[in-house]
Amino acid sequence: IGSALSGGPLQGRRVLVTSGPTHEPIDPVRYIANRSSGAQGTAIAQALAALGADVVFVTGPATVPPPGGVEVIRVETAQEMLAAVEGALPVDAAVFAAAVADWRVTSESDRKMKKTEGGLPLLEFAENPDILATVSRMAEGRPALVVGFAAETHDVVDLATAKRARKGCDWIVANDVSHATGIMGGAENAVTLITKEGADSWPRMGKDQVARQLAERIAQALA
Ligand code: CTP
Ligand code: CA
Repeated sequence: IGSALSGGPLQGRRVLVTSGPTHEPIDPVRYIANRSSGAQGTAIAQALAALGADVVFVTGPATVPPPGGVEVIRVETAQEMLAAVEGALPVDAAVFAAAVADWRVTSESDRKMKKTEGGLPLLEFAENPDILATVSRMAEGRPALVVGFAAETHDVVDLATAKRARKGCDWIVANDVSHATGIMGGAENAVTLITKEGADSWPRMGKDQVARQLAERIAQALA
């Protein structure tokens, strides 16, 4: 289990997976983070490797350890993740499972902020680069298959269908991350795969099983 099948359907294919949260520093001791554990991205990388793919795994500071048998590139911020992704291209397919911070703090302080300095801190933000959209819209060297995720808390299929069009990716794996589902940071996932043919909702299952099904679909698409 977990070792590459020689002669697996993804033998000779290079696949990129992003995973985990990003951390955006506020000062030397503080950062903005999110609840992503990296579990789903890690399971996808492992499932792709098990089908014989050469996997490049670009991960933020996840709580789940990276899988064995893949090339691991560790990053902290969204900007570092974009640079690592660009450096890993070209690939046959790319799966963007990371929960990338939408904003970074532009008022980052190189000294620890002190509460004695008076008043409350005021943070200034800039929007981070959209890694998925950047790769989806590459004029040259675009991966043959680009898969994004859509973490939503309401109107999941409608929002994710619009997101697929806006980003220019081929597939979106949509999921409901509202707190009550327990999906963010949990062991299970309930996803809807959105392609140009439409939306296909999978039953709730383990993140490992979602990963294996997605890896099979990717192998079929690249065949
Ligand atoms: N993504 C990315 N770079 C970003 C933000 C998101 O590559 N700066 C990717 C994620 O890895 C995911 C997809 O885009 O595959 C959708 O992420 P999501 O947060 O759902 O979408 P956003 O476009 O950021 O929109 P919003 O958070 O406002 O819903
Ligand atoms: Ca976002």
